[in-house]
Amino acid sequence: PDIDLIRSRLLAWYDAHARSLPWRAAVGAPRTEPYRVWLSEVMLQQTTVPHATPYFHAFTTRWPTVSDLAAAEDAEVMGAWAGLGYYARARNLLACARAVAGEHGGVFPDTEAALLALPGVGAYTAAAVASIAFDRAANVVDGNVERVMARLFAVETPVPAARPELRRLAGLFVTDERPGDWAQALMDLGATVCRPKSPSCGTCPVASECLGLATGDPARFPVKIKK
Ligand code: ADE
Repeated sequence: PDIDLIRSRLLAWYDAHARSLPWRAAVGAPRTEPYRVWLSEVMLQQTTVPHATPYFHAFTTRWPTVSDLAAAEDAEVMGAWAGLGYYARARNLLACARAVAGEHGGVFPDTEAALLALPGVGAYTAAAVASIAFDRAANVVDGNVERVMARLFAVETPVPAARPELRRLAGLFVTDERPGDWAQALMDLGATVCRPKSPSCGTCPVASECLGLATGDPARFPVKIKK
């Protein structure tokens, strides 16, 4: 696969087909505030876009800034989180908001390393916020990105053993040019075109570069061990 060609095709596709999401700035608009990026990414780690959307609106209406969220009572936040599941994540959310408010003056740090040092912020969230909110080159790897890489490169190693290799492959595409758009383009492609079942290769902007498609059975990737 031609890395530069894939990058330019997928970014052009994103310019034309980016999903309009409540936490996403419109093309040409100022960047989304880090608070909104962080909140949406934490919510999206455990649920789908349609399920997370009303929660995102409820949180940002009730707590418009990270300092507002930091000042909330634990029980209020847990109540607002009900239905999203994984309460540990809501506790981490509050711990992070309080760290940003208390230790960073209510301003999210703008590097991946400093974000990673916040409570409850893992590799995925730190990379997502650094790239989407601050446009820093970061390797944002979620399940969508793993699947796209497994298909583009026809990775035969089964998951989960293939994870480090899939991360390395994703890293080949990361540059200083539009890193936030790149991360979101890949995730959108995985969600809307390179879907887990029945990928829509006929509309894929990078089909010509896809080794998985060339095998004739792209949906076989990422390979799973049969149970
Ligand atoms: N899934 C999680 N975060 C996302 C984002 N920013 N864009 C598209 N899909 C996502």
